[in-house]
Amino acid sequence: MNSKSSSSSHTLEPSNIPSHIAIIMDGNGRWAKKRLLHRVKGHEKGSETVRAIVRSCREIGIPHLTLYAFSTENWQRPKTEVAALMTLLKKFLKSEQQELTENNIRLNTIGQIERLPADVQETLSQVMSATQKNDGMQLNLALSYGGRAEIVKMVKDIAKKVNSGKIGLDVITPEFISEHLYTSQLPDPDLLIRTGGDMRVSNFLLWQIAYTEIYVTNTLWPDFEKEEFIKILIDFQQRERRFGKIR
Ligand code: IPE
Ligand code: IPE
Ligand code: MG
Repeated sequence: MNSKSSSSSHTLEPSNIPSHIAIIMDGNGRWAKKRLLHRVKGHEKGSETVRAIVRSCREIGIPHLTLYAFSTENWQRPKTEVAALMTLLKKFLKSEQQELTENNIRLNTIGQIERLPADVQETLSQVMSATQKNDGMQLNLALSYGGRAEIVKMVKDIAKKVNSGKIGLDVITPEFISEHLYTSQLPDPDLLIRTGGDMRVSNFLLWQIAYTEIYVTNTLWPDFEKEEFIKILIDFQQRERRFGKIR
């Protein structure tokens, strides 16, 4: 799926670990369908992959991990699937709180958190405040997240400041825009991984991925394992990032 295949002779280079990895965790439904199971079973298995990949990132020393868990468009799925995803999210948060604390991981969210069910919001703020002093790694869950909605919100926030006379147009720079996004405290992702084989970004981090390296794997999210994750990181380390310049 990628222009350069990773060579098994390489190992992970500790001096070139990405600062921020973003993942589009796709393929839960297809994983379940292949096994004649309900889609929700795929989401359940997928949540186990989340646990394993968060653990791997912590071990490897990746400072920021952003996981696309629920998009603004995903609200259009059947009510029963949306409800099951919300229940699963709450269960996941409750079961992970201790592990996040023990591993010095801080939980953060990006997206329209106000649209989530009240009980999920409550659990989220509880885990976020319990982990807010942790500085070993930051786990960002993208929930009811959409890149376009994020940009609309940013434009409105900036327009308000302009309207009220607080700022002039000259202060609007790319950096200023970045500071008005959900990801204001995060570096742009170095690497975007999508499981499930579809070569699209599905409204994820539209502004932030301007120079992100992209890797699409056919592996369905519930089947995604540490071994493949490491191979992708090694592949990333072999790429030449030019940022529009020449070498
Ligand atoms: C990704 O898996 C999880 C969410 C979008 C919540 P999907 O549910 O999209 O799985 P597929 O793409 O149908 O296989
Ligand atoms: C992207 O997957 C969203 C998440 C992984 C949360 P989708 O399954 O919703 O995306 P499309 O429909 O394939 O573009
Ligand atoms: Mg999908």
